[in-house]
Amino acid sequence: MKGAAACFEYYKYIGTAGSARQMGFITSAHMLADALEGGYAVGAFNVNNMEIIQGIIDAAIEQKSPFILQVSQGARKYAGMPYIIKLCEAAMAEGPEDIVLHLDHGESFEVCREFLDSGFMSVMIDASSRPYSENIAETKRVAEYAHSKGAVVEGELGMLSGIEDDVKVDEASSKFTDPSQACEFVEKTGVDSLAIAIGTSHGAFKYSGDPYLDFARLEEIASLLPGFPLVLHGASSVPDGIVSLANEYGGKITGSKGVPEEMLAKAASMGIAKINVDTDIRLAVTASIRKYLYSNPEDFDPRGYLREAREAVKGMVMHKMQAVLNSSGRMH
Ligand code: G3H
Ligand code: 13P
Ligand code: ZN
Repeated sequence: MKGAAACFEYYKYIGTAGSARQMGFITSAHMLADALEGGYAVGAFNVNNMEIIQGIIDAAIEQKSPFILQVSQGARKYAGMPYIIKLCEAAMAEGPEDIVLHLDHGESFEVCREFLDSGFMSVMIDASSRPYSENIAETKRVAEYAHSKGAVVEGELGMLSGIEDDVKVDEASSKFTDPSQACEFVEKTGVDSLAIAIGTSHGAFKYSGDPYLDFARLEEIASLLPGFPLVLHGASSVPDGIVSLANEYGGKITGSKGVPEEMLAKAASMGIAKINVDTDIRLAVTASIRKYLYSNPEDFDPRGYLREAREAVKGMVMHKMQAVLNSSGRMH
């Protein structure tokens, strides 16, 4: 279906809802449109505490790169919404004039509404595990509410799962996003971006065989939805170096494998405008803290190892911005 006609015209919200802001938090609409036009992707990084936020902000300032901070329900449970919001507000005083703060994997309309009512201008409703018609209905409900507040919505269609050795590509790809459904889904729900399943999975153990992304499927979806931002979840690269470092200092992480950086860069040039990264941040934090504590057994001041963690996050995010996201100098 290469070169298929676009299923419908997009970009109704930019300039209206897309330009809204609350407490300095903005939508991702312009950022993702710029990324699509420039053939790169914006990194969306999961945040859970102050050091992670600071590491990402420091990297973005140094790289002059756009970025998205995203918060899961688990992060809210861990840190508490007031802390998350205030930490991100504090980050704006450090450099970026405004920030895209995004809910990652909101499980229901009610959860998305809570985040929107707290000041988030971008939310993801992940009803992808529900039957297709329910996914449409719940996502549409969220989109209507979000748009009434000037905010934007990411939906998800398809199931993320890596390709295992013992699973045939055909079987695994049955969970991948169906291109014609993607068109219908976007049109019926009114979402502003769409997470698609093309071979990635969450976590550090994405493939037991060779890494794989279904580029043909991505090409088809992108050709049907030109100018529409697609999102890749499960996009950590799980670098061997970081895993080895963690293991060298007492970790036991075996059989890990991520998405190679070249594949991510290729996907970014083909219509993926947002790339989600959490696992690589977790690994950077943990490996650096393991090493610090092992190397400084007498030190019990948390500022010692937390400083190392912050630096490790900054280094990892900067590397990603240079090597994968190719967005240097494009801070909005
Ligand atoms: O995709 C999920 C993210 O990695 C967030 O994980 O729910 O454990 O915070 P979490
Ligand atoms: P990783 O587990 O590959 O970092 O993916 C994170 C993600 O998709 C968050 O939504
Ligand atoms: Zn995800």
